[in-house]
Amino acid sequence: MNRGVWKSLAAAPLALACLLLSGASQAADPPAPAKPDLNRGQAIASQVCASCHGADGNSTGGAYPKLAGQHAEYLYKQLADFKAQPGKTPARNNPIMAGMAAALSDQDMRNVSAYFASQTEKPGAARNKATVPLGEKIYRGGLADKGVPACASCHGPAGAGMPSQYPRLSGQWADYTAAQLVAFRDETRGNNAPMHDIASRLSDKEIKAVADYIAGLR
Ligand code: HEC
Ligand code: HEC
Repeated sequence: MNRGVWKSLAAAPLALACLLLSGASQAADPPAPAKPDLNRGQAIASQVCASCHGADGNSTGGAYPKLAGQHAEYLYKQLADFKAQPGKTPARNNPIMAGMAAALSDQDMRNVSAYFASQTEKPGAARNKATVPLGEKIYRGGLADKGVPACASCHGPAGAGMPSQYPRLSGQWADYTAAQLVAFRDETRGNNAPMHDIASRLSDKEIKAVADYIAGLR
């Protein structure tokens, strides 16, 4: 056998490994963030994320957040925060999502975020009429005696948030929202200091009330 053949034989396992590592992507990821590819984002969503978040980002229960209509920059930041960095606990600690994020390249995190952001969220509803007044009070006016600011001051009067700054909250499952407030409080979600401070001032009862109110916001 001549040398050229040996060389290509030796290179074959490496080439295969590279192909496997790059997953379904055909070309190498571009160096700078390219314009998000919605088709590729949709393919990832339907193949990987759909079982928990729904193919269009409308999950079917509060164990998994709705992603539809959420701001792309926010979704991208969460994926980055879930990723484990060597020697550090992820800023947002969730083993399931750490695994999901680890499998995505930076560009694919942008692609899938842009895809979910382009989808329409199905509205939710408040379930507990008795706590709506307390939830509304916290959301719109805060709790002055406890130093809790109005949620609306950042997340907006209708809970739509603000792209690149504040996530959309409206219509989200109450169980998920309440779980996040608890996670901010106990710092399993340690990716935002103001939210840690705010959640630390809320009782469990207040968390449940405001989360249920938010589910019905639109
Ligand atoms: C096996 C179930 C499962 C799969 C599959 C899954 N996720 Fe998740 N995802 C979760 C859970 C559970 C949470 C809530 C984590 C927490 O409590 O912090 C979550 C949270 C998220 C969040 C944070 C949302 C927010 O409002 O802050 C994003 C973004 C996200 N997932 C994106 C994805 C993407 C993109 C995929 C596909 C590549 C995916 N997930 C696949 C279970 C899943
Ligand atoms: C000073 C501005 C500010 C105020 C006031 C504020 N938030 Fe937030 N909130 C944020 C920011 C910024 C984030 C995104 C943090 C991150 O990067 O993950 C956030 C995230 C959240 C999330 C996570 C959403 C998700 O999809 O996982 C929830 C839930 C939330 N806030 C609820 C509230 C509630 C309830 C109140 C009122 C009691 C409130 N926030 C008041 C700035 C604020």
